[in-house]
Amino acid sequence: MARILITSAIPYINGIKHLGNLIGSQLPADLYARFMRARIGEENVLFICATDEHGTPAELAAAKAGKPVADYCAEMWQVQKDLSDGFRLSFDKFGRSSSPQNHKLTQYFAGKLAENDLIEEQSEKQVYSNADDRFLPDRYIEGICPNCGYDRARGDQCENCTKPLDPTDLIEPRSAISGSTDLEVRETKHLYLRQSQMRDKLDAWIDGKKDWPILTTSIAKKWLHDGDGLQDRGITRDLDWGVPVKNGEEPWPGMESKVFYVWFDAPIEYIAATKEWSDGKGLDDSAWRRWWRNDEGAQDVRYVQFMGKDNVPFHTLSFPATLIGANNGEDKWHLVDYIKSFNYLNYDGGQFSTSQGGGVFMDQALSILPSDYWRWWLLSHVPENSDSEFTWENFQASVNKDLADVLGNFVSRVTKFCRSKFGEVVPKGGELNEQDKQFTTTLSASVDLYIGYMENIEIRKAASTLRYIWALGNEYLQSAAPWAEYKEDPAHAAAIIRLSLNLIRLYAVLSEPFIPDASAALMNAMKAEGGWPNDMGAALTALPGGHAFDVPENLFRKITDDEREEWQARFAGKRD
Ligand code: MF3
Ligand code: ZN
Repeated sequence: MARILITSAIPYINGIKHLGNLIGSQLPADLYARFMRARIGEENVLFICATDEHGTPAELAAAKAGKPVADYCAEMWQVQKDLSDGFRLSFDKFGRSSSPQNHKLTQYFAGKLAENDLIEEQSEKQVYSNADDRFLPDRYIEGICPNCGYDRARGDQCENCTKPLDPTDLIEPRSAISGSTDLEVRETKHLYLRQSQMRDKLDAWIDGKKDWPILTTSIAKKWLHDGDGLQDRGITRDLDWGVPVKNGEEPWPGMESKVFYVWFDAPIEYIAATKEWSDGKGLDDSAWRRWWRNDEGAQDVRYVQFMGKDNVPFHTLSFPATLIGANNGEDKWHLVDYIKSFNYLNYDGGQFSTSQGGGVFMDQALSILPSDYWRWWLLSHVPENSDSEFTWENFQASVNKDLADVLGNFVSRVTKFCRSKFGEVVPKGGELNEQDKQFTTTLSASVDLYIGYMENIEIRKAASTLRYIWALGNEYLQSAAPWAEYKEDPAHAAAIIRLSLNLIRLYAVLSEPFIPDASAALMNAMKAEGGWPNDMGAALTALPGGHAFDVPENLFRKITDDEREEWQARFAGKRD
């Protein structure tokens, strides 16, 4: 039986994430993890995430908060952990890139790469700020992108065109700390990863990925062939906070005061977090290594990564370069098998933005509505094939229609009608007629379609098929009209209601990856067990005549126009 390893890009520690971040990686990854657990069993799925705690984003945010960076990171990890629990993100491990496990593994990989002659010391020209009296690596510096002209590009990457950058590439650079343009270039020594040596291997590897989404391969190819996406990159920095530069367990002469570059250690945290997971369970190293090492059991693993499009170059080029570079001799690290990447979600005519504070943040979202409402809207509008936009009107309309009018209404009509005529128990007797059977055939075809979309991680199609499956129930109820049938043929009405109650259980199972809380509430009310349908006949008779249930109350409520207007106004401004 194949196993699935799922990772979501690890969010920067620097503050609470907005809904654009959430739908750009973690939430779709959770959808897939939940689906796969239901399909192939929990023990065959491992879902890993963590916080990305090093580098300039962490240092800048801690400085702004007036806290030591280690304390700041520990506090923000807890805040992010609580919010991911609030959104029901079902990570097996939510690790920290500052963990001792990641320190060791990062140093291990650097040592391996050096052993394989893929690391070189180079004198690097680095930007020094006279006003700030320090070097300005990566995000400490901002300026105009040499590739697209965007004027808020950062020293590590242009957010607008995704091009990976070096601070010295920026046009009209300025310090992100003081805004000063009194900058000069000074020389310092750094370690460089000789990625250019691996271009052919990476090219061939990406060429073999025929099934990858176009968004993923087009970005990978663009930076691979444009040439400088794969130029040798500095993997060390002059910072205090980070993984100290070591050659495996040995000191690295000349590098004593330096740390590894955040983009070098962050993806290694996927592996380290897996070790954090197994260490936390008191398991030995074979437990995490069988997910990552092809020579230690990971050949049957399918490794699927989720991320926003700005992360694609690092996951298709830099991180594979690290693993391929280490894979020499006895090392056989498992490379990613499938990369699902996303476009951006915009906010009501503007942008979700951490730096500008625009949009709705995870804590704010949960303070106004339960997570299922957000999960449903975000997943059904995921920016999968193009950017998409959050508007309050659209949010209100989707929630009210899909969740309240379609799913909620079906459940309410069926259970309340049953209670009034047969009591809170699945009615016995009666047979399904041709029309009822016709309905189950149509339903069955849609369920197959839904499962296929979920397997392929075609999220929008999966969401609209699920919505269609909910709607089919209402249409069936409308045409079978058990309330009328009850007067003509009460036994047939009992059969219709029995089928409909089973449909509620089936909806709970199918909808779980999207709306886990509502699904659990339905399962509870139906006093039912889960179980993904392999056979529709069995799926629609799981609750036999005589089985007791409770009418679920208030599954979903509607968003009123007043609320919508109030929220729209409240979130129009910037976050403090
Ligand atoms: N922290 C990065 C971001 O939010 C993602 C890092 S993903 C990893 O864009 F692979 F580097 F871990
Ligand atoms: Zn650009």
